[in-house]
Amino acid sequence: MKDLPKILIADDDETFCYVLKEQLLESNFEVAIALNGQKLIELTRKSVFDIVFLDLQMPGTPGMELLTQLSAEYPALPIIILTGENEAKKAVECIRRGAYDYVVKPYDFEELLVLIGRALEHKELKIRSSVLDTLAEAQGNNSIVGSSPALQQMLALAGKAAKSASNILIQGETGTGKELMAEFIHKNSPRASRPFVVINCASLPDQLIESELFGYEKGAFTDAKNSKQGLVEIANGGTLFLDEIGELSLALQPKLLRFLENGEFRRIGGLSNIHSDVRVISATNRDLMNEADSKNFRRDLLFRLNVITLEIPPLRDRREDIIELANHFITKKSPIRSRKVLAEEAKQILNGYQFPGNVRELEHIIERAMIFSEEGVINAKDLFISNTQGQTIPPQQVNESGSVPIHTTVLVKTIDEIEMEHIQSTLKEFGWDQTKTAATLGISQKTLYNKIKKYNLKEGY
Ligand SMILES: Nc1ncnc2c1ncn2[C@@H]1O[C@H](COP(=O)(O)OP(=O)(O)OP(=O)(O)O)[C@@H](O)[C@H]1O
Ligand SMILES: [Mg+2]
Repeated sequence: MKDLPKILIADDDETFCYVLKEQLLESNFEVAIALNGQKLIELTRKSVFDIVFLDLQMPGTPGMELLTQLSAEYPALPIIILTGENEAKKAVECIRRGAYDYVVKPYDFEELLVLIGRALEHKELKIRSSVLDTLAEAQGNNSIVGSSPALQQMLALAGKAAKSASNILIQGETGTGKELMAEFIHKNSPRASRPFVVINCASLPDQLIESELFGYEKGAFTDAKNSKQGLVEIANGGTLFLDEIGELSLALQPKLLRFLENGEFRRIGGLSNIHSDVRVISATNRDLMNEADSKNFRRDLLFRLNVITLEIPPLRDRREDIIELANHFITKKSPIRSRKVLAEEAKQILNGYQFPGNVRELEHIIERAMIFSEEGVINAKDLFISNTQGQTIPPQQVNESGSVPIHTTVLVKTIDEIEMEHIQSTLKEFGWDQTKTAATLGISQKTLYNKIKKYNLKEGY
């Protein structure tokens, strides 16, 4: 069972604390009380809270200072000021220092509940936006498309696995949809309303992964000017997604193992153990059994991670999904009310292609084809796929039927360069009017915006 959301009430008025506590308990929250600032800090170090109610006037450290300290240490934690002081200036100052909201006593409990609901939601969003830019792409449209028996079987299994509390390892080649699957599992689990936190073990150096994962105490190392909460703490009650787990160094593996064994960890430089309740989903495109055989991955860690293993088949082994996915991406990237269609010949080429980059590659092929195609139809030549060699190739080398001349050896430009120029010249033609450019290219404004960012296109060049 996952934990209930935990609320900490910090107020020196004991009666007030107990009344609010009773009300919150009845609404299914876990509640702790701190009657002064020192206790407040002590409690936040011991367990992970989802919301803090903070009074501004308590004996000892001034409330404002506590607010500043807490919001620096726990950037994702909503702190709601609950005070007798009805002063607009104070309220503004609190918000400036990171408070989530400012409520004047006496409170209306129904309103407080609505505020709590919003704060919990906001907490999740904040975690996503501050730490997880990797999720941005998947968030837009995260339905899993494909009716092939292979994918449907996977989804049925994933749905069952989601309901259990076990850790899950998702295996699959690059671009098969592992991250999408992890999100699907989280959303279908009893933890769906709690944070989904992602860390990519391949994109950060060792030291940073450790401090991101477990957090640190002020002074633990030269740059640690303030204490900071780690992702395992932030993910409390929810799911931690460890992407590219196969890249986790041998030095960090035992630290993760320790946490998986009992849910306890220490911040770097910290003296006390903190408990956090997380379900771990990890993903890899490596064969971790092999890695364990060759001593690159600890076997004991692998057994903790892969209580359930889900293997996403490569796209070439579930060809029924190809056209369905292609149409899904066309719809996703089209302007409203005008949607290009795939010509029969284009479908044939897609159906015969190997897709070494799997669904992600298909997505890119479609996106590019939409930019190059004319008059509402995506033809074979717009795909830039060699139907014989299973590679995408630059357009100069593709003839009308989409096949490749055999003796072409000199690559003049990459497809990306050609796409970039095509977009740039269309933008120029319309004086950088993005609405007109997107309409002419037959893509949505969002897709155009992403391309401008990708190629770093600037007006006036
Ligand atoms: N079945 C699917 N339905 C819809 N979109 C999909 C599907 N599978 C993958 N995608 C899309 O393809 C892209 C790649 O998917 P994702 O990032 O989940 O793959 P991955 O296996 O994590 O890749 P990598 O190994 O490179 O990290 C994403 O934009 C994702 O939304
Ligand atoms: Mg991934």
